[in-house]
Amino acid sequence: MSVFKEARHLFHFAGLFVLAFLVFLVARHYVVPKSFGEYGHYRGAAIGEIAAHPVKFAGHQTCESCHSDVLDVKSKGKHAHVNCEACHGALAIHADDPSAMTPVLPDTAVLCARCHTASAAKPKGFPQVVPADHSNGLPCDPCHKPHSPAMDAGGAN
Ligand code: HEC
Ligand code: HEC
Ligand code: HEC
Ligand code: HEC
Repeated sequence: MSVFKEARHLFHFAGLFVLAFLVFLVARHYVVPKSFGEYGHYRGAAIGEIAAHPVKFAGHQTCESCHSDVLDVKSKGKHAHVNCEACHGALAIHADDPSAMTPVLPDTAVLCARCHTASAAKPKGFPQVVPADHSNGLPCDPCHKPHSPAMDAGGAN
């Protein structure tokens, strides 16, 4: 039967597709992690792995519970909404046990420039300076108090 003879090629071809699909299923079984899809379109076990990372930031409330004197100054100044660790870096180790490590005080010539160096990309209202012109690149803390940086008519406040 010639019709059947022709169709045989199609069956061979279809067979190749079936085989490829089986290979795909087997490969998928080995490649896709077991917990994939447990909660959503991601690896469920990733949640536990991320949660197991040590905490690096203490959060400003923790800092403030011991350094209330700094909070008193900061809460009245222009940096009221800049959190401690944005300037001091992640300090959970210090906050857990202050005697374990004493934080190094930031170099203001580097730290302050990070946020206040003038750039067209910053919102117009944000206070910006060109450190090379404004302070000759020198540190900022002789004139500005980091925890309350604004200048009065009378100088640093
Ligand atoms: C449990 C109380 C406690 C907590 C919480 C705490 N500190 Fe401290 N901190 C201290 C003590 C006590 C010292 C002085 C330690 C020393 O001199 O060795 C200190 C020292 C420092 C210093 C250095 C002061 C200096 O004169 O050199 C900085 C900066 C500082 N803390 C920032 C922070 C920040 C930011 C946080 C929050 C992430 C924080 N601290 C959380 C108790 C605390
Ligand atoms: C805008 C950046 C900035 C922020 C926000 C900030 N600090 Fe500081 N802090 C500094 C710098 C810079 C120094 C070093 C002192 C200097 O240069 O006069 C310092 C010094 C300190 C010291 C040493 C003692 C002193 O008063 O000089 C402590 C303690 C401290 N900071 C804790 C804190 C805590 C707690 C917070 C949050 C409530 C905080 N800081 C928020 C920049 C900052
Ligand atoms: C993490 C970013 C950040 C860092 C670091 C930072 N600042 Fe600021 N600064 C701010 C923000 C936010 C404000 C409030 C801006 C506003 O009110 O619109 C501000 C406000 C100020 C102002 C008030 C300007 C005015 O008159 O309105 C001065 C001055 C200033 N900062 C100086 C400093 C100095 C000096 C340092 C280093 C000790 C520093 N800043 C570090 C974010 C930062
Ligand atoms: C010699 C003292 C001095 C030094 C050092 C200094 N400043 Fe100032 N800064 C001033 C004075 C005075 C003003 C207020 C008058 C003005 O706007 O020029 C001011 C204003 C500012 C303002 C507000 C600008 C605005 O548009 O409202 C920012 C932000 C600022 N300084 C950041 C810094 C930074 C960052 C550094 C360190 C790189 C620094 N300053 C070093 C004296 C100083």
